[in-house]
Amino acid sequence: MSLQLGQVPAIIISSSKAAETFLKTHDINFASRPKIKASELLSYGSKGVAFSEYSPYWRSVRKLCTLKLLSASKVEMLGPIRKEELNVLVKSLKKAALVGEVVNVSEVVENLIENIVYKTILGRSKHEKFDLKKLVQEATILVGAFNLADYVPWLGAFDIQGLTRSLKKTSKSLDEVLEVIIKEHEQISNVDKTHHEDFVDILLSVMNQAIDPENEQNDVIDRNNIKAILLDMIVAGVDTSANAIEWALSELLRHPRVMKNLQDEIQNEVGTERMVEEKDLKKLNYLDMVIDETLRLYPVAPLLVPRECRESITIDDYFIKEKTRVIVNAWAIGRDSNVWSENVEEFYPERFINKKINYQGQDFESIPFGSGRRRCPGIQLGLVSIKLVTAQLVHCFNWELPHNTNPSNLNMEEKFGLSIPRAQHLHAIPSYRLSSDVKDE
Ligand code: HEM
Repeated sequence: MSLQLGQVPAIIISSSKAAETFLKTHDINFASRPKIKASELLSYGSKGVAFSEYSPYWRSVRKLCTLKLLSASKVEMLGPIRKEELNVLVKSLKKAALVGEVVNVSEVVENLIENIVYKTILGRSKHEKFDLKKLVQEATILVGAFNLADYVPWLGAFDIQGLTRSLKKTSKSLDEVLEVIIKEHEQISNVDKTHHEDFVDILLSVMNQAIDPENEQNDVIDRNNIKAILLDMIVAGVDTSANAIEWALSELLRHPRVMKNLQDEIQNEVGTERMVEEKDLKKLNYLDMVIDETLRLYPVAPLLVPRECRESITIDDYFIKEKTRVIVNAWAIGRDSNVWSENVEEFYPERFINKKINYQGQDFESIPFGSGRRRCPGIQLGLVSIKLVTAQLVHCFNWELPHNTNPSNLNMEEKFGLSIPRAQHLHAIPSYRLSSDVKDE
């Protein structure tokens, strides 16, 4: 489908076959991002990874992030943060369970993921001087907003929606917070080299060096580059994982059969004498299917992140002009009945029994992490968090919907933004299901 969005020509990709053509066969031609106002203002002139145009700079920064921040060994090293934060949540849910309290599951999951992501990236989950979470939430909303100036550039000067004003204000406040946090790291790392290494430490250790010594451009990483990368990681890491867990738990509550299968699988592997650990995850095949099915129905970035055509090209007799915006509808691809059969709308994890989905660019039937050169570099980090949290919450607790809600009338509406959260928060009542002598670690 082609659309004219203001002055910007756009094409929409809504089938797995077309996605393969654009993101695999012609990937390099569609590996750029359009310049958008939000990223220009928040990311120091698009100096992060997610919104920078295809260029030697983007290649170097992406390589740096993949190798130094998001590699398999780094993801594993960060395991203790996930464990610690999840234990704190389980402890507080145990208290709620004792008195039969209704828990706002959406809120506690979001809070948990925020704490994990902030500790991983910045080494702390809050700052006494700033409301960091609120600022990042504001930035995320602004990045996801439909900004007229991105489609009719001359309107930008009038700032009719007030977005430029808000972006400048949020960007200034975020810059102040990041400066303080970076300065604190510089002081600590001069004194104490033993503290746990977070993303700020890693990026500071390469500051003023070539981002990628093998790259002919020899870009050097400076303070603004570091701040832009940190912001990208935070914005990309929080809502995505939190929303995926929220949807997984919602569908499990709507499908007691699937919930029971999952609890049985975990119980068989782990028993009721201890909590789930990350090393258990590789044995939990049904959990994999539950998460694959959740991400098929609720790809948390439903339109991925927009691409831009680098050079004019003709594909299947359609002429696509340079700078055309390419929007990939991952939501429609996951719900294509030609690929997923008639029960496409149903939450049915068993459809993955003989269909292991590979998110690394081979499969196009479900592409929640995108594909090709611009596909998500945080797949491993995202998946381990989603799987661990979902498994832990259903292993430690049985969950019941509050009184006036039941599996058939639970509201499943979505809210529009960069990601798709639930329109209404999910509420449920936990009851503890492990042996009473499991230690709170
Ligand atoms: C459930 C979890 C996640 C989902 C579903 C997800 C999804 C996505 C999607 C759809 C894209 C765009 C891909 C494309 O254009 O083809 C993307 C890009 C990106 N993601 Fe994720 N993501 C998740 C978690 C994370 C995490 C935890 C991080 C890092 C902390 C991360 C960092 C990034 C970055 C930096 C990009 C931009 C890549 C580029 O433009 O080169 N993501 N993600």
